[in-house]
Amino acid sequence: MVKKVAILANGGDVSGFNAVIRAIVKTAEHHGVECYGFIDGYRGLLKNNYEKLSSADTASGILQKGGSIISSSTNANVFHYPVMEEGKEVYKDLSDICVQNVKDDEFDCVFALGGDSTQKSARDFSLKGIHMIGVPKTIDNDVACTDITFGYNTAVSVATEALDRLHTTAETHNRIMVLEVMGREAGWIALESAIAGGADVALIPEIPYDIEKAAQAIKDRQKIGKNFSIVVVSEGAFPKGGEISVKEEANNGQGVINTKLGGAGEKVAKQLEELTGLTARCTVLGYLQRGGTPTSFDRVLSTKYGSKAMELALEGKFNVLTVIKNGKLDCVPLEEVVGSNKEIGAVQNGESEGSIRLVTMDDDLVKTARNIGICLGD
Ligand code: F6P
Repeated sequence: MVKKVAILANGGDVSGFNAVIRAIVKTAEHHGVECYGFIDGYRGLLKNNYEKLSSADTASGILQKGGSIISSSTNANVFHYPVMEEGKEVYKDLSDICVQNVKDDEFDCVFALGGDSTQKSARDFSLKGIHMIGVPKTIDNDVACTDITFGYNTAVSVATEALDRLHTTAETHNRIMVLEVMGREAGWIALESAIAGGADVALIPEIPYDIEKAAQAIKDRQKIGKNFSIVVVSEGAFPKGGEISVKEEANNGQGVINTKLGGAGEKVAKQLEELTGLTARCTVLGYLQRGGTPTSFDRVLSTKYGSKAMELALEGKFNVLTVIKNGKLDCVPLEEVVGSNKEIGAVQNGESEGSIRLVTMDDDLVKTARNIGICLGD
């Protein structure tokens, strides 16, 4: 019998975190279950820092709010956590402290809202006997085993609006406008926003690009009197035989090397300017994609995910991830989510701790983009 549950939000924020939290809280209350939130993701679990969540109070009025009312920690890996020992930083597995906290606090289930690394930790906790249920989050839309993650649709919609705005200024000044969007290893945001925003070129990590091909597409447009072009570049896109653009190699202080990507869009803009003779400008969309109010789609998706997660807990179905498969709400074992890396293929820059879902060449988005003449750099 599930009586007391806790939620944690982990990893980079997305629009929709609060909508999931609200749905879990409401569904829990509906069934007489008490709900708590660990503050700051897995770090809250480690420090046993949590607060009561209730729809009348702490979790009220949050559906449309960006961010997370229980914060979120980026990549706090409690299985490999930095601690100071004799004046030196060493990494320790502190997960047993978390397990003890969950037992002492008598939580019957912990909901882990997060991306691939978060779900890997959730799987690892489930192996230690904690009842875990994952909910797939990330603007990058790259969590394995689900068709869509919450936060992604909002990011695409922000990128699409940016493209609409870049279109008019590109046309006015006869320029190439490059928009760099997020997507470390997967190009979903770039691809979908390129289609939605009528871009001419989309460069994604899954297709190492040939810049000459992108330049040719722009020159072909010039031949038909179009002296401006719109190019979308994933932050993780890289040239054939080349490297991804890294802004800063950094340890985020939580046990994970948190390499900041940056420069992919600028690089493409500079090369396209040289190859086409047109002026090129680059805009980096950055964190605008993650902040602020979720789209109605994300509000509904997040609510579905949250209520399903609580439903699964009530059914005693633990150690699973809520997913959307062929348009239907469902769940898959966390083991499958983490283990599916092999089927999906090598992670480009080898940074992910879990599994990720890359754009595949038979995806409808790829076919559609090619059919309507969007150059994918190959
Ligand atoms: O994983 C989501 C993401 O939005 C990536 O696309 C991006 O590289 C990363 O987060 C940046 O996050 P932060 O700067 O918070 O580590």
